[in-house]
Amino acid sequence: MVDQRAARRAALLRHGTTDHYLDPVLYDFEYRERVEDIAWYREQVGPQPISVLELGAGSGRITLPLLGDGHCVTAIDRVGPMLEHLRQKLDRQIAADMLPTDARERVTTKLGDIRKLDLPDNSFRCVLAPFNTLMHLYTTADLQACFGEIARVLQPGGVCLFDVCLPDFDWLMWDPADRHSVTPFIDPNSGRRMIYSTNHTYDYATQVCHIRIYYDPAPPAGETFVPPTNSEHVVHLAHRQIFPEELRALLPWVGLELVKHDGGFCGEPLTIESESQVCVARKAG
Ligand SMILES: C[S@@+](CC[C@H](N)C(=O)[O-])C[C@H]1O[C@@H](n2cnc3c(N)ncnc32)[C@H](O)[C@@H]1O
Repeated sequence: MVDQRAARRAALLRHGTTDHYLDPVLYDFEYRERVEDIAWYREQVGPQPISVLELGAGSGRITLPLLGDGHCVTAIDRVGPMLEHLRQKLDRQIAADMLPTDARERVTTKLGDIRKLDLPDNSFRCVLAPFNTLMHLYTTADLQACFGEIARVLQPGGVCLFDVCLPDFDWLMWDPADRHSVTPFIDPNSGRRMIYSTNHTYDYATQVCHIRIYYDPAPPAGETFVPPTNSEHVVHLAHRQIFPEELRALLPWVGLELVKHDGGFCGEPLTIESESQVCVARKAG
């Protein structure tokens, strides 16, 4: 019985860290309006070309603008289709003169796990883990391993930039059976009229929120959408909640100093209203 529960939990986490990233075209469509973070990462990395390591680079939402700014970027992710999509977008943007041709020589894409980096010590000025990537590290040991690797590969005085959600107990406690964010859209792959909706279950013991994203065919025009009991396509997304005090405790352990811990990408203070924790950590120089 215990084994079955453990196996089910392991499967949920496996799906929860992969399924949302198997369709990069849909991923880019869903986050097409998320641009504030791109501006923040570009500004923090700065205008001088440097070597940047991006953890969980995905489809290159942040990578490609950094290449446009002249940086050398090593982009790591463990989902092949996301990195493949990044490379296709790079080719298309070079062909359309949106990126210089030397961008191809300045990027390295690597399939890998951010808990164990196959990279030399002291090799990057800057390491990024954008858009909740660290929320896929489900245990404290995993988070510690990743921060340890970041500290190892950063040059002395180098910085780590990342953002994760601020846990929101009101939201975490919503009824798991309700449907939220019900949104009609045209599937960018098939052109079908669809309905997007979500719900979630928070596991207090593990601090992991299990989000279900439902994709259902839209009802005929004029009819109200009623969520079906068996949805056509359900994507599982598992996010470990990371509390501010955990960050303050973990980073010094690996030799990183948390120098900025904001509540948004425009320097907002971290308060009960904040959706994100936007962080800068520095390795001692
Ligand atoms: C929310 S996406 C962020 C993608 C991109 N940085 C962005 O801002 O759009 C999180 C990414 O982290 C990757 N990821 C999650 N856990 C990982 C791990 N342990 N090792 C490598 N990549 C991981 C996922 O495959 C996914 O592409």
